[in-house]
Amino acid sequence: MVAEDGVASVSGQEQLITPWDVKGGSDGKIDYSKLSRDFGCSQLTQDLVARIEQLTGKPAHPFLKRGFFYAHRDLKDVLDAYEKGEPFYLYTGRGPSSESLHLGHLVPFIFTKWLQDAFNVPLVIQITDDEKTLFRALELEEAYRLGKENIKDIIACGFDPDKTFIFSDFDYVKGEFYRNVIRIQRSVTMNSIRSLMGMTQEDNIGKIAFPAVQAAPCFPTSFPHIFGTRKNIRCLIPCAIDQDPYFRMTRDVAPKLGYFKPALIESCFFPALQGETGKMSASDPTSAIFVTDTAKQIKTKINKHAFSGGCATVEEHREKGANLDVDVSWKYLNFFLEDDARLAEIGQLYGSGQMLTGEIKAELIQVLQKLVKEHQDRRAVVTDEGLRPCFCKVSQSDSLGSVDEDL
Ligand code: TRP
Repeated sequence: MVAEDGVASVSGQEQLITPWDVKGGSDGKIDYSKLSRDFGCSQLTQDLVARIEQLTGKPAHPFLKRGFFYAHRDLKDVLDAYEKGEPFYLYTGRGPSSESLHLGHLVPFIFTKWLQDAFNVPLVIQITDDEKTLFRALELEEAYRLGKENIKDIIACGFDPDKTFIFSDFDYVKGEFYRNVIRIQRSVTMNSIRSLMGMTQEDNIGKIAFPAVQAAPCFPTSFPHIFGTRKNIRCLIPCAIDQDPYFRMTRDVAPKLGYFKPALIESCFFPALQGETGKMSASDPTSAIFVTDTAKQIKTKINKHAFSGGCATVEEHREKGANLDVDVSWKYLNFFLEDDARLAEIGQLYGSGQMLTGEIKAELIQVLQKLVKEHQDRRAVVTDEGLRPCFCKVSQSDSLGSVDEDL
């Protein structure tokens, strides 16, 4: 179908990754190195991770250290600018397609929070209720409602309320933001969007136009209440690699409009409980742990559905050990068990067969029950007051221009 501009071709068994569709290759797996090569991103090397540590004075987040965020564009430029004391801001987002978030949805927000704390910078979070109306069979009202529910979970991730602006497109796309949307739309041809995103003549026209709405937050003038009229502020986007096509388009138009190209820091997908053949899916409840799950549900899901790399019998397992490459409990612990020493120990014990699948699962269940409980406690105290479209204001700091306190 689409082969130009780095979208992996789908002829035969090749993987296909677009912002709307994730299909692994012939073995069902995603070849991430090939993907970032095809897209034209750079590998996030350990020296860049070390540089982040040195600049922020903080140990790298496990998602960075353990290679989950593995690709980037122009990250070095952002770090150079930061070192010189020049401002930048973070931008991420969510398309509200489900009532509550699952662990895979949470991951980019957990990481974004870490980046915000480490660099102490403003953050904008776009809720693309419009996108989900155009791309899924969701009514506008429903997409808007889901977005508001999702915002509560996003707030519960603990962003700095004085430096974070969360907005629904249905509420916020107007004024300076909309002007940027139109500037972007005028600069991109139908041809380039079609080949970049894999759309066809049969798609509705909103789909063709939407990428400009996801692009607009990359430009600081879309947020006059935060950045005033300043154009020369860099934007860094933490996101999953499937969002890359949107920002490749944005990077093409940015210099023409007088802005920096947005920089990206990009992750793999979070594996489903059943194993690493794609993203977790909100439409299949057994494929994911939701932030609304009870401790008991977490236990049952892990015990019943988490794909095991252990052997069929205890005797065989003791002899051969587990295959860590396919074991989902091991993968999840790599995300959420912060203690490096304990993680290494589990890997050694389980990989050599001294630890059994039931035992590693018990360990994971504990970690996830704690994580989800803490999230639920924080979400329980998010009030409706917090949900006003512009609930967070960036204060008069950071020499980022004036702030309209009334917005
Ligand atoms: N398109 C994304 C989704 O479907 C939502 C989104 C909007 C986003 N802007 C973003 C994701 C910026 C990452 C970074 O979930």
